[in-house]
Amino acid sequence: MTADLLAVYPLGSALSDDGRLQLGGCDARELAERFGTPAYVVVEDDLRAQARAYREAFDRHAPGAHVSFASKACPCTAVLRVIESEGLGCDVASRGELAVALHAGFAPERIHVHGNAKTEADLAAAVDAGVRQVVIDGFDELDRLARVAADRGRVQPVAIRVTPDVRGETHAGISTGQADSKFGLGIDDARVAIDRVRREPSLRLDGLHFHIGSQLLELGVYRRAVAAVAPLMDGLDELNLGGGLGVAYTAEQAARLPTVEAYAAEKVAAVRELIGDRVRIADEPGRSIVGRAGVTLYTVQTVKRNVSTWVGVDGGMADNLRPMLYDAVYEAQVVDRFATPEGDVVGGGGAGERNADPSPPVVTANLTGMHCESSDVLVRGARLASPRSGDVVVTPVTGAYGYAMSNSYNGVLQAPVVFVGGGTAREVVRRQRIEELWARDIG
Ligand SMILES: Cc1ncc(COP(=O)(O)O)c(C=O)c1O
Repeated sequence: MTADLLAVYPLGSALSDDGRLQLGGCDARELAERFGTPAYVVVEDDLRAQARAYREAFDRHAPGAHVSFASKACPCTAVLRVIESEGLGCDVASRGELAVALHAGFAPERIHVHGNAKTEADLAAAVDAGVRQVVIDGFDELDRLARVAADRGRVQPVAIRVTPDVRGETHAGISTGQADSKFGLGIDDARVAIDRVRREPSLRLDGLHFHIGSQLLELGVYRRAVAAVAPLMDGLDELNLGGGLGVAYTAEQAARLPTVEAYAAEKVAAVRELIGDRVRIADEPGRSIVGRAGVTLYTVQTVKRNVSTWVGVDGGMADNLRPMLYDAVYEAQVVDRFATPEGDVVGGGGAGERNADPSPPVVTANLTGMHCESSDVLVRGARLASPRSGDVVVTPVTGAYGYAMSNSYNGVLQAPVVFVGGGTAREVVRRQRIEELWARDIG
C-alpha cells in the first residue's frame, strides 16, 4: 500500500515505520524545520536517473542523437550541473537562460537557443557565445540573425522551428503544434525560410525543429508531426523533436505514463521510417527530466470550514503557478500522516496544534496559498489526514516549472532549493532575502 501512496514521489521515497515521509533518506518534516517553508526539495538520484535514462535510451535507438535539457523547466545551477555531468546538452530560451547555462558549465557547443520573439541582444549573446545552434522562429528573426552574425564575421548554425499543425492532448496553454500558434513557421512558410537561410552566407542550416506541446502522455502525436515535416527534410541533417513527454502528477496518470524508453523508441522509429537513416535526431525534454525529482514543502497556517474546507499554507502561486495557469492537478499529503484512497491514515504524527473540533480522519479540502487571489488554490479536493495548523504538507512532482516560474507576489521571499540524497541535505538555492524585495528600486 505504501508503494501506491508514493507512486508519484521521487525515486527512493519511503514512509518510515511511524508513517513519516523520507526523501533522499531525509525526514521531510525535519527538512521543513531546518530550511523553513515553502521549500523545493530535489532528490538528486531521481534527477540523475532521469537524465541518464534519456541519454541511454537515445544512445540505444539513435547513437549520436543530441539530447538536451529544456532548461526553462528548472534553470537552477545545481540542477543544470547534474544534467551537464550526465552528458546532455542544454536548450535555453533567452539570454538570461543562456547565461545560467554557461555559468553552470555547459560548453556553448552544447547549447541551442529558442525564443519566439528574440531580441537583437538575445541573438548577439548567442552568436558571441558561439552556441551550437539558434532555432529560428520567424522571418524577422531570420533577417536579424543574418545581420548580427554577418556584423561579427561569423557563420551561425541554425535550425528552423516548424509548426506541423498537429495537436497533442494537453492543456491549450501548453499546446504549441497547431497552425494558429505564436511559435514557429507553418509548413509553407518554413519552405520559404529554408530557401532564405540557404542564401544567407552568415547562416548555416542544420535542420528543422518542432515542439508540439508539453505534458503529452500519448506518443502517437509525434509520428503525425514527423510525417508533417518529412517533405521539408530534403538535404537537411538534423531534426529536433522538441521534448514534451509528460510526468505523472497523480497516481491515475502514473498508470498511463509512457516510459522514456518507449518515448525514445517511438520518436526514433518515426524518423527512421518516415525520413530515413541519415538524419541526426535531437530532442529537448524538460518536465520529464526534473518534474518527479522535486517536491514542495509547506506549513499549514490555517484551516477554515464553510461550504468547503480550506487549508491555507505559507506558499501558493508565487512558488507554483501551474494550477492557476493550466488547471494543473496535484496530490498533497501531510508529511507524517498520509491519507490512503480508502480514507485510512498511515502514521499519526505531526506536531500540529490540535484542533478542538473532532474531525474525520481524512477530509477533502482545498489546499490554498496565501496570496490575494481566489485562484490561488494549489490543490482542489485534496485528501488530507485531519490537517491542522503547524502541519507540514507536501505536494509532489513540482520539480518542473515551479522554481522556474517563481515570483515574489505579495512580497513573499522566493523559496530555497534543497538537494537531498544519501540521508544528507544541502541548500543549493537560498531563500530570497527581504532586502532583495527592494534591491532594484532606485527612486
Ligand atoms: C521549444 C521547447 N522545447 C522543449 C520544451 C520542453 O518541453 P517539456 O518540458 O514538456 O519536455 C518546451 C517547453 O515549453 C519548449 O517550448
